[in-house]
Amino acid sequence: MMTSQLYAPSFSLLPKSSINPNHLIKDGSPSLISIVPRYHVRQNRTKKKSSSLVIHATSGELKSSPASVSTVTSTENQAFTVKALVTVTVTAGGSSKRLNRPPDDNIDLLRKTLLLELVGAELDPKTGLEKETEGYAYNVSHNDDEVVYEATVTIPAGFGDIGAVQIENEHHEEIFIKSIDLDGFPNGTVNIPCNSWVHSKSDNPQKRIFFTNKSYIPSETPSGLKKLRESELQTLRGDGGGQRKTSDRIYDYDTYNDLGDPDHDDELVRPVLGGKDHPYPRRCRTGRPCTEKDHLSEQRSNSVYVPRDEAFSEVKQKTFSQKAVKSVLHAVFPSIEQAVLYRDLGYSLLDPNLSFSYFTDIDSLFNEGVTLAKPKTGRFFQTIMQWLVKTITGGKDDLLLFETPEIYKRDKFAWFRDDEFSRQTLAGLNPYSIELVKELPLKSKLDPEIYGPPESWITTEVVEKEIKGYMTVNEALERKKMFILDYHDLLMPYVNKVREIEGTTLYGSRTLFFLTEDGTLRPIAIELTRPPVGDKPQWKQVFTPTWDATGRWLWILAKAHVLAHDSAYHQLVVHWLRTHCSTEPYIIAANRQLSAMHPIYRLLHPHFRYTMKINALARESLINAGGVIESNFSPGKYSTEISSVAYDQLWRFDMEALPADLIRRGMAVEDPTAEHGLKLTIEDYPFANDGLILWDAIKEWVSDYVNHYYPDPNLIESDTELQGWWTEVRTKGHADKKDELWWPVLETPEKLIHTLTTIIWVTAGHHAAVNFGQYMYGGYFPNRPTIARTNMPTEDSSEEEFLQNFGKNPEMALLMCFPSQIQATKVMAVLDVLSNHSPDEEYIGSLKSAWAENPDIKNAYDRFSVNLKRLEGIIDERNTNMKLKNRVGAGVVPYELLKPFSTTGVTGMGVPNSISI
Ligand SMILES: [Fe+2]
Repeated sequence: MMTSQLYAPSFSLLPKSSINPNHLIKDGSPSLISIVPRYHVRQNRTKKKSSSLVIHATSGELKSSPASVSTVTSTENQAFTVKALVTVTVTAGGSSKRLNRPPDDNIDLLRKTLLLELVGAELDPKTGLEKETEGYAYNVSHNDDEVVYEATVTIPAGFGDIGAVQIENEHHEEIFIKSIDLDGFPNGTVNIPCNSWVHSKSDNPQKRIFFTNKSYIPSETPSGLKKLRESELQTLRGDGGGQRKTSDRIYDYDTYNDLGDPDHDDELVRPVLGGKDHPYPRRCRTGRPCTEKDHLSEQRSNSVYVPRDEAFSEVKQKTFSQKAVKSVLHAVFPSIEQAVLYRDLGYSLLDPNLSFSYFTDIDSLFNEGVTLAKPKTGRFFQTIMQWLVKTITGGKDDLLLFETPEIYKRDKFAWFRDDEFSRQTLAGLNPYSIELVKELPLKSKLDPEIYGPPESWITTEVVEKEIKGYMTVNEALERKKMFILDYHDLLMPYVNKVREIEGTTLYGSRTLFFLTEDGTLRPIAIELTRPPVGDKPQWKQVFTPTWDATGRWLWILAKAHVLAHDSAYHQLVVHWLRTHCSTEPYIIAANRQLSAMHPIYRLLHPHFRYTMKINALARESLINAGGVIESNFSPGKYSTEISSVAYDQLWRFDMEALPADLIRRGMAVEDPTAEHGLKLTIEDYPFANDGLILWDAIKEWVSDYVNHYYPDPNLIESDTELQGWWTEVRTKGHADKKDELWWPVLETPEKLIHTLTTIIWVTAGHHAAVNFGQYMYGGYFPNRPTIARTNMPTEDSSEEEFLQNFGKNPEMALLMCFPSQIQATKVMAVLDVLSNHSPDEEYIGSLKSAWAENPDIKNAYDRFSVNLKRLEGIIDERNTNMKLKNRVGAGVVPYELLKPFSTTGVTGMGVPNSISI
């Protein structure tokens, strides 16, 4: 487990009552130091004078930090010395580029490597100025992982509490500071976790500030820190201009105008997402120049800026996520293309749209593999992709051998069956689309002039034929027995556009389900619709699970289309838009408006870890023009545009809360007598049942936290930073929705708690539920094809053609509809990476040490952890209950996606704190 980055939450939160500003301080280690008082002039801020002392230390030893304590007091009458130990992490790359030895040895010979300036929490009562005392730290010890620098600093008489440490890095390179420990105070060591990159003085003369581990809402900021608090936020906000460089820490907003590449190819022109025409959340501004052909679009980059501390950790052995994603895209993908295109034909080129010829060819990916030419980067595959690629002993090439996905391992025919098709709407990778049908017949809201007759052909007669013997349609509606996957109105406007792209097709689709007596869903009808095109009228057909061979194969093909729609919707809307993309504005606003010492910043910070970086990678290679999504999913180049339509029509912050989402879809109703205050429409709805326990656990933890820091509810409305943060989330980060009336107003503890719980749920529970099962369910693509490439054989084909092609070989028709060999293999590799838990994963409820210093908060967090442990037990128990047929059964993959903890790798369980992959 690694430490997190900037302002990691491993700070103490002592209750205010435990701070005694008049506590007597004993002397430090005077035998090792000489003290040279001098008059100090502050740099980089308003030039004021204050008394300080410079300490020249001689030597010291690396030692482990004692248990940290919160802020510290000094005597009113006597100066004393403290030893400052700065722990710098040796990094595996990035700008420091130095392994196993401290940076800039020559500088260190001068013993002036890091200038530490300790800042008093309170202003000097006599002068009204900030109090500071400083000293130089230099390297005293290092090992493979860490370098320790030491200084001895005099704390003048009457200095009072330490409020912050400012650092000037004399190295010529940035360094990653893990922590600063101030040893010698009578209460013990003051520990300041930093986990942050500190720039070189030569790059930027501005000192870097780290506040101590005590949280303050703005009105309670100690007098000596007020200016620093504000100036640090100004630094992080920037001035709205300039092109960002790697070492910057500036958080600002921009539209998604960097997905297209118009200068490279006209085919790669994409609309700007964000704004009136295509509403969208905002992303982090990079300030790159605009393209030559389109002044509204930003130039592409192979290395997209994120604020320095948002990057994946460069700590040794912990570079998993970035390397894994990049290696798949930049090394495995080309190798796959080469391997598939040239396979078996003596290196003559094959059609890139080639389908699998037999189902056994798909099986061979798990047992025979694909032979890849060894990349020029030596043992690249073996070291980085070892979970994916197994080396042939003695061979000259690498073998890409996929792990057998769980769905296939347990039951290789599960994908084929209707019960599994339905079950996965409640317990699969996308449990967010199924909704209650409130009335029949179904009717489109689209313009019939453009899209044809709006009435569905899934008529009462069609439904009644399928549920005959159980109940009438009216009874089914009344008793809440009808459910739907509705991808009609969202996709119809794109059907004709998508059909102009080679190698893909699209329909509007509606899939109707009936809730059986044993609590499982049974699919009863699929309707596929194509709007009028040219002189052809609207085409639509209803497919049902019939008992004749032709009808049965058509049903299977129709399911493949629906699954492709569901895969695209899941990836673009449920996963990307609603978790990754919508969260970025919360992060940008938090860093611009909430000080690192703000308790709400510290509460949220673990839930924002690595999100901006993975989102930048997504813009770079996944959702960009011609990227992984466009090349392998049905909507092709309209993929992200469709997510913008979904944002416009569907996304509401207040509906992102799990209970509200369930109620909105008719999957639950409020019931004060029921557990969690909700009665589920489908009792055995694994995602909802497990999710609501997690939701309640998060809410209880957030309630305890908020009530601790806001004992007076009025403090919430008067908290300028908190209000500034939330205003900016609404007006800048989600600017296209800024005037919506559903935004919560942070005026009571209840609203603040609900808002924070929603954000944490989205980053933890929602994301885990839709992310970590990607390989388990999508790794065997017949279970979840990402694309359906051919039209239904009943659309626009003569009887003769129908019999010749589909009639003679329906299996081949299905394989041709499924993703091509290249598409399927690439998607499998990506899904494998995206389903992986990194070795440095931080799971929800596991940051116990972060809150160790405040008994109230620690107890609350302990309760949270116990609740999560309990959830783990409940899920295990539920997965052995044979009555719960949507999660238990012969060959059924148990529902574990919301089990809080996991080991490394593809496990199909584990809820990390944040969206980090
Ligand atoms: Fe994700």
